Amino acid sequence: MYNSDVLIIGSGIAGLSTAIHLAQQNSKLSISLISKSYKEECNTKYAQGGIAAVWDLNEDDLNKHIADTLDAGADLCDEKIVRIVIEEGPSRVQELINWGTRFDKINNLNYDLAKEGGHSERRILHYRDLTGAEIERALLEKVSSFPNVKILEHYFAIDLLTQHHMGYNITRIMKNIECYGCYLLNLQNLQVETHLAKITVLATGGSGQIYKATTNPIVATGDGIAMMYRAKGHVENMEFVQFHPTSLYNPSGENPCFLISEAVRGFGAILKTKKGEEFMHKYDARLSLAPRDIVARAIDSEMKLSGDEFVHLDCRHLEKNSFIDHFPTIYNKCLSIGINPLEQYIPVVPAQHYMCGGIQIDEMGRTSIKNLFAAGECTSSGLHGANRLASNSLLEGAVFGYRVAQDIGKTIDNIQLNTIIPEWDAHGTNDPKEMVLITQSIKELKDIMSYYVGIVRSNVRLKRAMDRLHLLYTETESLYHTTTLSPQLCELRNLITNGYLVTRSAEMRRESRGLHFTTDFPAKNIFLQDTLL
Ligand code: FAD
Ligand code: SIN
Repeated sequence: MYNSDVLIIGSGIAGLSTAIHLAQQNSKLSISLISKSYKEECNTKYAQGGIAAVWDLNEDDLNKHIADTLDAGADLCDEKIVRIVIEEGPSRVQELINWGTRFDKINNLNYDLAKEGGHSERRILHYRDLTGAEIERALLEKVSSFPNVKILEHYFAIDLLTQHHMGYNITRIMKNIECYGCYLLNLQNLQVETHLAKITVLATGGSGQIYKATTNPIVATGDGIAMMYRAKGHVENMEFVQFHPTSLYNPSGENPCFLISEAVRGFGAILKTKKGEEFMHKYDARLSLAPRDIVARAIDSEMKLSGDEFVHLDCRHLEKNSFIDHFPTIYNKCLSIGINPLEQYIPVVPAQHYMCGGIQIDEMGRTSIKNLFAAGECTSSGLHGANRLASNSLLEGAVFGYRVAQDIGKTIDNIQLNTIIPEWDAHGTNDPKEMVLITQSIKELKDIMSYYVGIVRSNVRLKRAMDRLHLLYTETESLYHTTTLSPQLCELRNLITNGYLVTRSAEMRRESRGLHFTTDFPAKNIFLQDTLL
């Protein structure tokens, strides 16, 4: 058994921000931060476009950023949360800068603010097309300066510890569920360790890997969301899966798909059909810079009409040196597959990119389970509603990392460690005989989600997905109860739970709104919310 005051699961912007703020507040707290892979491997590292914050008060103001966020969210954002995040955003970005993050400047003076889809002003701070990697670098460097933060790489969180592990019957409608830490699979020796904590924080990122084509790295398997659901905590808005309009078309099925940042369209690139004709005027007056749900659906519709497997992004008219300077990674990636983006069209397709729903949290990152907080992409905070505005996600991670730390600081002294949780019991399980059962089920899951629960949905498709998911679920649960644990099996289980949550939530929403579009209910509607049980 191991214990700490605070156990943070996840080493992206949300987890690291929480750890740094906590450590700054109180050097006596013991803080463990775990990552299932190398500490830098997370969605944060892959972020390209940047972080949105109102910076130039001569040109922009907080109300405009708030209005853009609410507009993208299709009437489902929580306005109070939107205000909090956008008003606190500039301070959190200033902190990132103070902690060593570099953002591009024009002539070494003012920040070079970029524009992305759905933003009415230029307000995206970025570091070339490597913003996430730069933020992750700076945060890891900063966190390493605190001796009371212990980083554990290659530890896989399996399940949250609650009264269930003390033999009590727990249901989703109970209000007094408590969290006491987590069972962790040590990936170096495949032993399960019990990690007790006064407070646990889920900062486990998104679940893009439920789809065949996603920009998310392979660690994005929705583990935190699945753990929360299994622990009978509240999860919501899972039908709102964001597809990025422009991932690089790659017939070899690269995982993850390489992203062609929206900032490229903000820089002037134009979407065209394979024949070279512009089409966005048919869908939205903001053309290639309309919010993502609109652009992704427009591309999907053009591809279905023409039968083409991709559309084109035209960058040929853009200024060469400036393009290479802003987008060196994108430029080099295109060259590596034989496309010079300044002379040829870039073939692009939509790919899963972001999970707007997740663990329900309040304005301080508190979940429905006591002593359990959550921050970042694994949450549903109310910021994104039915569709996230570009570059608001890094901002959300930084703001909620800070808020979670503030709330923990106020309450932790009154919490005792629970020391009567039993060790993991592996009796009755055997080593897996055929790993192919797991890898094949993951492929099946991705097929189900991609064909039946993608950009355009219908009752028949969702029903078909549900039936097939049920079979996968039954097979996998039986494997789980008879097999020694492997990260692959844990991830499969979590992916199926996320697939179920997305599909079930999509079935329950009998309207089209934001990222959820169904041919059976094509309009926005007055909607009676069912509860996910
Ligand atoms: P992550 O950064 O994903 O971190 C999750 C962490 O949890 C990882 O350390 C992982 O190892 C750990 N973890 C997960 N499960 C377990 C487990 N079971 N046990 C132990 N550890 C676990 N957003 C923007 O605002 N601007 C952008 O420009 C932008 N560009 C993007 C480009 C790409 C290609 C992608 C994929 C995303 C982009 N996003 C962007 C979205 C943004 O990067 C993410 O939403 C954000 O970084 C999520 O941060 P996070 O801290 O919540 O999670
Ligand atoms: C991008 O660079 O296009 C991604 C921005 C985001 O996901 O917010």
